[in-house]
Amino acid sequence: MLKQEAGDGQRSLADPEFRADVLTGLSASPRAIPARWFYDRRGSELFEDITGLPEYYPTRTEVALLKSACGEVGRIVGEGRAVIEFGSGSSMKTPVLLESVQPSGYVPIDISGEFLRMSAAQIAGRFPGIPVHPVEANFMKPVPLPKAVAEAPKLGFFPGSTIGNMTPAAATDLLRAMRQSLGQGAMLLIGIDRVKDEGVLVPAYDDAAGVTAAFNLNLLERINRELDGTIDVAGFRHVARWNDDASRIEMHLEAVRDQRFDVDGRPFSIAAGETIHTENSHKYGPRGARVLLRTGGWTPVAEWTDEREWFSLILAEAQPTPMAP
Ligand code: AVI
Repeated sequence: MLKQEAGDGQRSLADPEFRADVLTGLSASPRAIPARWFYDRRGSELFEDITGLPEYYPTRTEVALLKSACGEVGRIVGEGRAVIEFGSGSSMKTPVLLESVQPSGYVPIDISGEFLRMSAAQIAGRFPGIPVHPVEANFMKPVPLPKAVAEAPKLGFFPGSTIGNMTPAAATDLLRAMRQSLGQGAMLLIGIDRVKDEGVLVPAYDDAAGVTAAFNLNLLERINRELDGTIDVAGFRHVARWNDDASRIEMHLEAVRDQRFDVDGRPFSIAAGETIHTENSHKYGPRGARVLLRTGGWTPVAEWTDEREWFSLILAEAQPTPMAP
């Protein structure tokens, strides 16, 4: 995250990984910057705004599904599990689950410490009987869990279809890492967005009010702020397109004219019409989602979807580790 210099006019020190990803991504062909860099403070606010947009169906569909399915989830998983939430963010969807599974503990995992501590404190205030153990970590790798929950059986929680922001290969690696973090006997409740009509998908990522455009363009503003960039943000436009072959919505920043700019003292040029690829949001059919889970070491045991079949909530159990001969 950004480390601010205390208002003394000096340039902010950027995260070295951000610098490396941006410099490499702008030099690559095709150009691409990992979507995780959207989420500075402004980007996180804009994402919260996106979740309430009329065109952005995933959040409200998943919340409604969680509410209707949580009784059944509670019956299947039983009481007393430790709930481990991956990329907990604002923990907005967590209370519904905690109420239905009566957990022995709650472990939110997030890379953003500030956000994590705030939302952990809110959950602890609302559920005084549930011990909360926040862990600041990158959950893309196996995460050592707090000793306090070592003995409890685990229920992983990964809502929001964040898995869709990874390529299927990276998603499989993540599911395997989760399987390793959560151990034998674990279960996982995961939200996965479904393939649907392009006429629904594209507006969800290119809304009429321009909030998703602002979210995408904020990445360029962040580069200017944190990496001494000289990009003319008005020289780019937000593009959301459906890539049917890869079954994903792609977001790009397209140069509207030829331009030159510097980032961190390095010169770049981009021609009109060229894009910087900033996000993938993969959509899965019901079978594809189940195959993905199985490949990642999880066996689906129950699944819920809404009336329109736009979003899936899948409960899966960790595949047992086979005995070595
Ligand atoms: C966080 N993630 C699941 C969102 C999605 O739908 O892929 C991010 C997003 N990008 C644009 N709108 C929402």
